Amino acid sequence: MKVLVLSIVLCCVSAGAFLVQTQPLHQSTPGQQSLQILTKTLLSLTNHSAVVEEICRVYPTLIIPHPGECQLYYNCSLTYTSVPAHLEQHMVECNYPDLFSEKTNQCENFTDVCCGARTEFKDKCSYRHGNQNGYCHFKSCIGDPDGMVQIFNFHNFKICFKERLVGEGSCKLWFELPYKGKCTSRLDIPVSKGGLMPSCTGKNDGIYRFDHSSALENFLYYGDYFHIGRVCDAYYKCLGGTITVVKCENGTVFHMDSNTCKPGNSSLPNSCQLYCNPEKTSIDPFPVNVDECPYPLQFSETTGRCENFTEVACGTRKEEKYTCDYLETKYLNRHQGNCYYVNPGDCLHLNDGVYPHPHSKNLTLFIRCYRNRLVEEGNCPIDREWGTQTYPYKGNCTHRFAISTSEASYGLLPSCSSMQDGNYQFRTRPCDAYYRCEGGRATAVKCPEHTYYDVTSRRCSSAVACYRV
Ligand SMILES: *[C@@H]1O[C@H](CO)[C@@H](O)[C@H](O)[C@H]1NC(C)=O
Ligand SMILES: *[C@@H]1O[C@H](CO)[C@@H](O)[C@H](O)[C@H]1NC(C)=O
Ligand SMILES: *[C@@H]1O[C@H](CO)[C@@H](O)[C@H](O)[C@H]1NC(C)=O
Ligand SMILES: *[C@@H]1O[C@H](CO)[C@@H](O)[C@H](O)[C@H]1NC(C)=O
Ligand SMILES: *[C@@H]1O[C@H](CO)[C@@H](O)[C@H](O)[C@H]1NC(C)=O
Ligand SMILES: *[C@@H]1O[C@H](CO)[C@@H](O)[C@H](O)[C@H]1NC(C)=O
Ligand SMILES: *[C@@H]1O[C@H](CO)[C@@H](O)[C@H](O)[C@H]1NC(C)=O
Ligand SMILES: *[C@@H]1O[C@H](CO)[C@@H](O)[C@H](O)[C@H]1NC(C)=O
Repeated sequence: MKVLVLSIVLCCVSAGAFLVQTQPLHQSTPGQQSLQILTKTLLSLTNHSAVVEEICRVYPTLIIPHPGECQLYYNCSLTYTSVPAHLEQHMVECNYPDLFSEKTNQCENFTDVCCGARTEFKDKCSYRHGNQNGYCHFKSCIGDPDGMVQIFNFHNFKICFKERLVGEGSCKLWFELPYKGKCTSRLDIPVSKGGLMPSCTGKNDGIYRFDHSSALENFLYYGDYFHIGRVCDAYYKCLGGTITVVKCENGTVFHMDSNTCKPGNSSLPNSCQLYCNPEKTSIDPFPVNVDECPYPLQFSETTGRCENFTEVACGTRKEEKYTCDYLETKYLNRHQGNCYYVNPGDCLHLNDGVYPHPHSKNLTLFIRCYRNRLVEEGNCPIDREWGTQTYPYKGNCTHRFAISTSEASYGLLPSCSSMQDGNYQFRTRPCDAYYRCEGGRATAVKCPEHTYYDVTSRRCSSAVACYRV
């Protein structure tokens, strides 16, 4: 079968050879045209590479359109020493989106080429060059209108022309999106189109803050990691159902109480630790002019600044008590996963007092909780009166003689269970103190200055001789 086909090829090529030899190749003569039609037909029937190499050997300057794909052709004058993986010997691909014209025998603007039975690819990824390693990142324009087209839910865009990809890009400013053929401020794009321009339909005349909109949930764009929205540097007016967007001037933010943009900090309705600060110009992770008080401070509407939470009345503004619920902390820990493991601890369910540090093996380190906030981290001091190290125990830094031996390895207060009520001598501390048993409960007692524990009378006395071990 193969031998038969080859002999036909050679026969046809010989016939063509006569025609071509009498006429110069690069003119579009009937001879060259019939040769091309012939070879194209043959190629469509058989193994291209074999046939092409055979033909090119005889006609070393021939140009042959690829029978299947309109952007490909064979150039017999071009012999690869090493054939590119996505091509074959003598095969050339037009630059996207050009196509090979049988009329001019070269690549032309795709608008000028008639492909006939050859397949015309519109996607850059269908060109062999665009899809070399089996992976292609170029966007498709199939079905898209001409011009700038937004890439779903992002500020990137592609530019399409007759379903070909002719450009790609992204809007420079974080609050811009490709819309109506240009990079447009989100404030001028309706919410339904992914923008921030709210609708005044059904709203009373008046002034409104840009509320957080669910349409924004999909945008993880730079500067609004938490989808807070442009709550501080702009507002909008509704008048007879028509919207006017107002951008606050530099150095001012929206104030709810006066419904205007003014200098000075202003509070936000949903949060007690977030506020608007005209001085804050960096935008990561919050939108322009949104700021957060450092934990555990909150924003005071009275003083217009961050204050000790004990001084702030939050009213209906949501109050966060745990450092991991402050957004700045959340943001800083966004890659670590669990904020708890990198932050000192959570006082949400603890009474006021000191507790062992949850992340340290050092037994003297403590955290202090106050009104369910962590307000201090520290190291329990030496107790001067007892002259021993203190440890976090039952809400206070407590010296070792007041900590039961049964509750901690460093405790020195013996157990009173199954002991009669009365005073007893510390075995580890003979003279200046004793412990009392009362109904099975032990208490450490320090003898008053210049007195010592008398084993006989079981009281502190100045008339007893004693020396410390
Ligand atoms: C086509 O011909 C080329 C060159 O002779 C050869 O390397 C290739 O294996 C052939 N392909 C098929 C599918 O026969
Ligand atoms: C064919 O290849 C030759 C040699 O590389 C080159 O000069 C010529 O321009 C090519 N023609 C086309 C149409 O690609
Ligand atoms: C291709 O043709 C179209 C329509 O005529 C034209 O707008 C475009 O600029 C041409 N492209 C090139 C690269 O010449
Ligand atoms: C607002 O102030 C910033 C920082 O001072 C400055 O970069 C920016 O150009 C100013 N914008 C306008 C509109 O004045
Ligand atoms: C705004 O709040 C910050 C943080 O408390 C404070 O440093 C700043 O002075 C306040 N600005 C004014 C004008 O009160
Ligand atoms: C906050 O107020 C409480 C109670 O008045 C006080 O104990 C604490 O030291 C204050 N904290 C700061 C950081 O000022
Ligand atoms: C515990 O931490 C304190 C303060 O950093 C330090 O002085 C002390 O030596 C530490 N104790 C131990 C047992 O490491
Ligand atoms: C801690 O000690 C202080 C002073 O002795 C005392 O007022 C307070 O009640 C103690 N706290 C707890 C939780 O026992």
